[in-house]
Amino acid sequence: MCGIVGYIGEQNGIPIAIEGLKRLEYRGYDSAGLCYFKNKKLHISKKKGKVADLEELINKKDSSSIVMGHTRWATHGKPIDKNAHPHFSMNKKLAIVHNGIIENYDSLKEGLIQKGYKFRSDTDTEVLINLIEYIHSDLKLSLSETIQQTLTQVVGAFSILVMSNEDPETIIIAKNGSPLVIGVGKEEYYIASDPSPFLKYTKKAIYLDDGEIAEISRNKLSILTIDQKIKSPVIKQLTMELEEIEKGGYETFMLKEIYEQPKSIVDTLRGRILQETQTIKLRGFNESIENFKNSKRIIIVGCGTSWLAGLVAEYIIEGLAKLPVEVEYASEFRYRDPVIYKNDIVIAFSQSGETADTLSALKLAKEKGALVYGICNVVGSSISRLVNVGTFTHAGPEIGVASTKAFTAQVSVSILIALALAKIKNNISKNDFNQITNELKSIHQKMQFTLSKCRDNIKEIAKKYKNAKNALYLGRGVSFPVALEGALKLKEISYIHAEGYPAAEMKHGPIALIDENMPTIIIATNRRNYEKIFANAQEIKARNGKLIAIVSEGDNQISKIADDFIEVPKTNYYLSPLINIIPLQLFSYHIAKMRGCNVDQPRNLAKSVTVE
Ligand code: F6R
Repeated sequence: MCGIVGYIGEQNGIPIAIEGLKRLEYRGYDSAGLCYFKNKKLHISKKKGKVADLEELINKKDSSSIVMGHTRWATHGKPIDKNAHPHFSMNKKLAIVHNGIIENYDSLKEGLIQKGYKFRSDTDTEVLINLIEYIHSDLKLSLSETIQQTLTQVVGAFSILVMSNEDPETIIIAKNGSPLVIGVGKEEYYIASDPSPFLKYTKKAIYLDDGEIAEISRNKLSILTIDQKIKSPVIKQLTMELEEIEKGGYETFMLKEIYEQPKSIVDTLRGRILQETQTIKLRGFNESIENFKNSKRIIIVGCGTSWLAGLVAEYIIEGLAKLPVEVEYASEFRYRDPVIYKNDIVIAFSQSGETADTLSALKLAKEKGALVYGICNVVGSSISRLVNVGTFTHAGPEIGVASTKAFTAQVSVSILIALALAKIKNNISKNDFNQITNELKSIHQKMQFTLSKCRDNIKEIAKKYKNAKNALYLGRGVSFPVALEGALKLKEISYIHAEGYPAAEMKHGPIALIDENMPTIIIATNRRNYEKIFANAQEIKARNGKLIAIVSEGDNQISKIADDFIEVPKTNYYLSPLINIIPLQLFSYHIAKMRGCNVDQPRNLAKSVTVE
């Protein structure tokens, strides 16, 4: 959470930083601010609200070749002007932008107050910059040595950029737990939470590791670790293209990403299914094949939509490969002292690869000796660097805060892992393997068909239900987690309260909510539990509930009793989440748009949750 940018070079860094912050707004949009040199002094402009509001505030004539900026997702302190970053130190000698949380800020603040420090904001960040200022004046060290000393006293996750009044040629940056990457230009450097702000200018990037501090001036970069070892920078060539992070004619990123799903599945599956040899080619899996052979269970950890993709994976892996799977919220797993055996495989699902709880859950599992496997979308992310092995989803950058294409890409990788595992465990017939892989190879066509066919129908249905106060989503088997994901999409972007339930569980409580105002969305595409879900549908109608059914083409039972229905192409049971989620994503999308909500930046949310 929170996005940070920095620039040092020949150009005017102010428009570069503003544009960079706009690209990072998916990380938080409570307030925004810039720090640069004006009349040879550090100058800060900051404001509650979006980067566009900040832009208005900045004098168009200002120019500075060294700039840092921040877009905030509030943790400590309300989203008001005074808590916006950057923050000055008390004597305005230094300024900082910070992404993360300083856990021991309270005791540090107490110590500083006793030394006469006064605070202008409610943030943990201001404590950090005052501590740096205090140590700087006390120990008379260079700024980078001071920061290195200070960070040994700090507990928490952070990435920071610091500028000093005394040195208008240098930015010092440090990272521990929150992402930070340096773009390398010609006699200029860009700094950001991810490469999107500088992709337009350079594709050369240095990913800072945890515990590293870099001192950056226009033509010099040096990296040292908190324990004072010098590190040589490793420059990576980025493969991401600028078009991937732009809207490309769509009205929102979310809509673009929903429509990109067929392509993202093709990209994720490319080269990974070898039908001639009946094999699945996943490097991470193959490198740890002995671990998979010896493992007695898989534990999946993740948060939000990634956790839900993990739940889908549980049905698929247990169903196809017959290996027990447990799925846990990363935040619960890490704090409940879980029993982890050395032959467990712990798989993390994470689009960003930066989610703090997922990262910590993996660290714990690794410490306890389990093999840790990552399914991530972002190359170079913290999780992808921590894991023993892993598989990237090639969904391309996901910028809309609500996850869509990452979910389907994660599900498609789960199917591949399940098939690979089923093969090595001899739990799948040649026939079934061929049938599923054939279907998987062409599933993007059915996804495309669903997207085109549902477009107008769903808009009409959304119009009818846009004023609902609550909604219930039901599914059985592998459609149950899809129902949960449908409910999550609706609540996060349209602010309508929605619950997902296994359809049979409805009778044990939620049925009490059913009345003529309550829409229930039921996923009823799978033959294997069709009669049961038909009975659930009738129970809803018997209580005057409004029923919206997702059914297979040609359905003539549930569609007859439903108030509204959406037909989708038939597919294999294990592949059905890839199709069934599409109408649910579009339904939420259109409802949210009709209610006037900002679907790309829903209130209170941020894309990359790098705090616990
Ligand atoms: C929901 C959503 C979040 C994320 C969650 C995990 O639409 O986007 O629930 O799925 O914050 O994020 P990643 O996958 O980056 O670990």
